[in-house]
Amino acid sequence: MRRHTGPDDWRETNRARWDERVAIHTASDYYDQERFRRERDVLRDFEIAEVGDVTGRTLLHLQCHFGQDTLSWAHRGAAHVVGLDFSEPAIEAARDMAAELGYGPERASFVAADVYDAAEAVPDSSYDIVYTGIGALNWLPDLVRWAETVASLVAPGGFLYLAEFHPLCDALDDETGSRIAHDYFSREAWVDETPGTYTDLDAPTVNNRSVEWQHSLGDVVSALAGAGLRIDFLHEHDMTMFQRFGALRRGDDGYYRLPGDRPRIPLMYSLKATRPAS
Ligand SMILES: C[S@@+](CC[C@H](N)C(=O)[O-])C[C@H]1O[C@@H](n2cnc3c(N)ncnc32)[C@H](O)[C@@H]1O
Repeated sequence: MRRHTGPDDWRETNRARWDERVAIHTASDYYDQERFRRERDVLRDFEIAEVGDVTGRTLLHLQCHFGQDTLSWAHRGAAHVVGLDFSEPAIEAARDMAAELGYGPERASFVAADVYDAAEAVPDSSYDIVYTGIGALNWLPDLVRWAETVASLVAPGGFLYLAEFHPLCDALDDETGSRIAHDYFSREAWVDETPGTYTDLDAPTVNNRSVEWQHSLGDVVSALAGAGLRIDFLHEHDMTMFQRFGALRRGDDGYYRLPGDRPRIPLMYSLKATRPAS
């Protein structure tokens, strides 16, 4: 059954866009690979607090890009981390960095595959923690299939941790973030042709077409519950990680928020969902 809208070549289209952006991202100030080599940890404070101690756990990172977050979990003590992304150049860059930091394949391994093929592509049948997000779900057309894939990869007693940009943002106007300008419930594919990338809006790029989908909070939670996971928490955050709206102000903690005189809205959310032990 076809459970999404949009062009049939969405995967090839998006992969070409991502492949081209890997070299731009690895060279960017935004991802600052030099700093990563030194500090080895780019995880956000709320993620660290909400995921908890990962010492000795196995962790699968879906849509890992070139592995900074994945390797950060290894640095924090995860016994074995696996990163999966459909972009070959991203996976090559991740493997290079893992080797540079001294992580052998038994500690950190990376797999080039589509997220929907993850169950067949990753080395182990299940993981204590499946971690994903920060700009991941918008690339996926079918949330029910995604949730089934994720649930099958969480070990009994293990959990999914997802941190994402809040879908309410998709409905608001870009400048002020205060006016409902778009349909929150839209299931239509959003096809765009914007050149450049979030680390360098002016970067000269060729593969600019992208196909994305917005997913309501209700759809995310219902897909995970429907796949047999138990929702432990769903936290909504009043901050985000980039200048999503012109009105946002960057705070001393590096997060972006609406000015103090504006009513707050959720800009990100994070969710933990457990696979029951029996
Ligand atoms: C915004 S990035 C994730 C951000 C990541 N947290 C970071 O900043 O390093 C989205 C990633 O999803 C990957 N991706 C998009 N669609 C995918 C798919 N269908 N299967 C696997 N990976 C996919 C892209 O290659 C890209 O690396």
